[in-house]
Amino acid sequence: MEIFNEIKPLRAYLNTLRRQQLTIGLVPTMGALHHGHLELIRASRKENDVTVCSIYVNPTQFNNKNDLEKYPRTLDADIAQLSTVGCDAIFAPTNLEMYKKASELRFDFGSLDKILEGEFRPGHFSGVALVVSKLFNIVQPNRAYFGQKDFQQYKVIAKLADELLFDIELSSVPIVREPTGLAMSSRNQRLSEPDKLKALVFYHSLLMAKELLLKGESTAAVKVKVKEKCEALPNVKLEYIELADTENLIPSQNVSSKTILLIAGYVGEVRLIDNLLME
Ligand code: PAJ
Repeated sequence: MEIFNEIKPLRAYLNTLRRQQLTIGLVPTMGALHHGHLELIRASRKENDVTVCSIYVNPTQFNNKNDLEKYPRTLDADIAQLSTVGCDAIFAPTNLEMYKKASELRFDFGSLDKILEGEFRPGHFSGVALVVSKLFNIVQPNRAYFGQKDFQQYKVIAKLADELLFDIELSSVPIVREPTGLAMSSRNQRLSEPDKLKALVFYHSLLMAKELLLKGESTAAVKVKVKEKCEALPNVKLEYIELADTENLIPSQNVSSKTILLIAGYVGEVRLIDNLLME
């Protein structure tokens, strides 16, 4: 497995592969890898000759300084995990390599980045779009792989690729969960075992909400019940639960196979998200 910290040698390596007509899959990550990330690598390996995984904790997408500082960084363990699933190359750049100077570029995705995560994390999707554009530009992959876990992020990146004419096929991989049902997340590493049990309340809330909505309860009534369920637990705070259209993420009052439930909240100071398709 090749490991690059700099753009120039990575580009040279990839150019050699392209000259041999080999296809390239990109899996962008912020490290602290878990089985969810490894599924993305597997998906890429199935469809491409070469898979590149980027590991970079991107400062411009963090709207909370404490979250950025506490984000787990486990590069050695990440390298070891990637070597077990046949990843071909890792790109783990420094901040200086990715941002020669503070960027003044800002992205605006219309309504898509003002709602849900965008409402509670101002500037977050602009930072994601900035770093993903840089990664697409550096790697120029044939395909790129993202998780359904960050459903809104996938929609933002799809709009980015579409509008900027990136010639890259995007794939969304289903959420990988712990045996308990907890959605795997790098931020789970910051939770104690009792807090991990508490964090399950978000997944259980999604399951409860889906069942109630399918029985005909109103979204307003379901939101009240979910808030009560979450906040019955000490140190748990619900930020939102929303039923939304899977195409544009506009909130929906009516259940259909084209809607999705999205939830976000805190266990202590750790912010978690999850979602469940209504299909
Ligand atoms: P990160 O949170 O490390 O996630 C990297 C990729 O793994 C994302 O596409 C995410 O949706 C996916 N992922 C995370 N948990 C998953 C799970 N339980 N099941 C399936 N896929 C999962 O998302 C980011 O990094 C960053 O915003 C990034 C796109 C790299 C830009 O900095």
